[in-house]
Amino acid sequence: MQEDLERILFNERTILRRIEELAAEITAEYKGRELTVIGLLNGSLIFAADLLRRIPLPLKLDCLSVASYHGRATTNGEVVFRQLALLDVTGRHIVILDDVLDSGVTLAAICDKLKTERPLSVKVCVLLRKLKPRISPFEADYVGCNIGDEFVVGYGLDYMERYRNLPCIGVLRKRKIVPFPPA
Ligand code: IMP
Ligand code: MG
Repeated sequence: MQEDLERILFNERTILRRIEELAAEITAEYKGRELTVIGLLNGSLIFAADLLRRIPLPLKLDCLSVASYHGRATTNGEVVFRQLALLDVTGRHIVILDDVLDSGVTLAAICDKLKTERPLSVKVCVLLRKLKPRISPFEADYVGCNIGDEFVVGYGLDYMERYRNLPCIGVLRKRKIVPFPPA
């Protein structure tokens, strides 16, 4: 798998070191309050597993699965929720975990939806943030690492559901990316 990478951006050690810092930041901020963490499937799975085990606070974990069709010519920014019932959002402090902040469309839609359930607070933590203009003017509260506007895989991030189990994060070779057929 690693041979499909054009270059490695972050190795496992670097990722874990940064996750420790993020965990310390979140732990300090939520001390004395009880958190509900919502991990977005499937991309945040591995990130969530490493981050949450470094946060020694009482918390509840839930996961949310959404389908985003933006990026394809057929829909514009539509985000479809695959489940209706959510655990413990009302009156609770929520932290949403995602793998990467790209256009911002998915996270903006999820935050809007969660806010209708009257949480005490909603914050967003992403492992990666692409430095680029966003479709939705959206910012994350906690960011692991900034990257350029490139397609990356590994450590939970996929291309067509592959590469999630790579321990590092790297830029996928262009020739591995199948172009979308014209609309
Ligand atoms: P956004 O709504 O455009 O911010 O991105 C939503 C989702 O697209 C992310 O949660 C990822 O699952 C996926 N995505 C965006 N950029 C990348 C990438 O570079 N590699 C793998 N997945 C990505
Ligand atoms: Mg994905």
